[in-house]
Amino acid sequence: MDHQNNPRIVFAISCILICFLISNVVPQVEARAFFVFGDSLVDNGNNNFLVTTARADSYPYGIDYPTHRATGRFSNGLNIPDLISEQIGSEPTLPYLNPELDGERLLNGANFASAGIGILNDTGIQFINIIRISRQLQYFEQYQQRVSALIGEEETVKLVNGALFLIALGGNDFVNNYFLVPFSARSRQFALPDYVVYLISEYRKILARLYELGARRVMVTGTGPLGCAPAELAQHSRNGECFAELQQASDLFDPQLVQLLTQLNSEIGSDVFISANAFSRNMDFIGNPQAFGFATSKVACCGQGPYNGIGLCTPLSNVCPNRDIYVFWDPYHPSERANRLIVEKFMIGSTKYMYPMNLSTIMLLDSRT
Ligand SMILES: *[C@@H]1O[C@H](CO)[C@@H](O)[C@H](O)[C@H]1NC(C)=O
Ligand SMILES: *[C@@H]1O[C@H](CO)[C@@H](O)[C@H](O)[C@H]1NC(C)=O
Repeated sequence: MDHQNNPRIVFAISCILICFLISNVVPQVEARAFFVFGDSLVDNGNNNFLVTTARADSYPYGIDYPTHRATGRFSNGLNIPDLISEQIGSEPTLPYLNPELDGERLLNGANFASAGIGILNDTGIQFINIIRISRQLQYFEQYQQRVSALIGEEETVKLVNGALFLIALGGNDFVNNYFLVPFSARSRQFALPDYVVYLISEYRKILARLYELGARRVMVTGTGPLGCAPAELAQHSRNGECFAELQQASDLFDPQLVQLLTQLNSEIGSDVFISANAFSRNMDFIGNPQAFGFATSKVACCGQGPYNGIGLCTPLSNVCPNRDIYVFWDPYHPSERANRLIVEKFMIGSTKYMYPMNLSTIMLLDSRT
């Protein structure tokens, strides 16, 4: 038998050769670092390390997480940053306050988000001890010093410039500030449209600082359909209609945010800031949950009272047997399945969801530079 002409062996040998060549010629694409800032929509567990009432560290949070344990994520399972990490092929980001985030693991990125915070310093004061956004940015500076000690300053700048960023802010400035109580200090100070203008002007400073600190690809989420959350339905809705004042807040805030990002990009001369509009995505589910395989967008899976929207999701709450058919996991936060549909739009959505481009386009562009 002539081994030389056995096509399988010939193929195997050429593959060994070619594969060897390819693996050496093509530069090893290291997973891109990922940095996360913002509130409970994206907190991976920083608040577990704080004395605060804004926490998700007990059952039934995490009921569908791989470990089936609560991790501090405000979800039954994975949250939006986890699913983005999955898409970009990296490990989920660890909370910055987690002592396990050390050494080589730092090179993967970090999650600085803290449930309860907002754009403004006075947002979320009722939660006592939370990491306000200015502190998150300070931690990011500290992070860069730690990484510099590991790999040097030049490589650190490269890592940060080449990283993907996600920031989610704004919802709490309405829910846990302006609309928290009737006649709140902010609502006496500002009419809603003026408050939104003020928030946007403060958000501009935060994003400009993030750019100064080296961020070059930043996905910025809108507020989401605040008035349609089960917590708001429970307090304000007679027939399941969304709470109009909060919807108006989102209607004002989200387009001005897109405008801000466009302005910043044109000042910088590059598409650094990407509007990731979870708002319109969420509205798709809320307008027609059945079309997305959900049984309801009004009732939370975990909670109590009307719409399961009163109070918090705790070990004593009702918990639905099938989390996949609920848009909302708890009175405020989407289920893992809703998060998946949101992140799918981040990846491949049209400019209605991702402006000026989606994450798959970003990854393609950035892999060429
Ligand atoms: C919020 O607090 C930080 C740190 O104390 C401060 O630098 C910043 O100016 C404050 N922001 C506003 C809008 O007051
Ligand atoms: C979004 O992603 C899809 C799939 O990669 C692509 O075909 C489409 O053109 C993208 N849209 C935009 C606006 O970038």
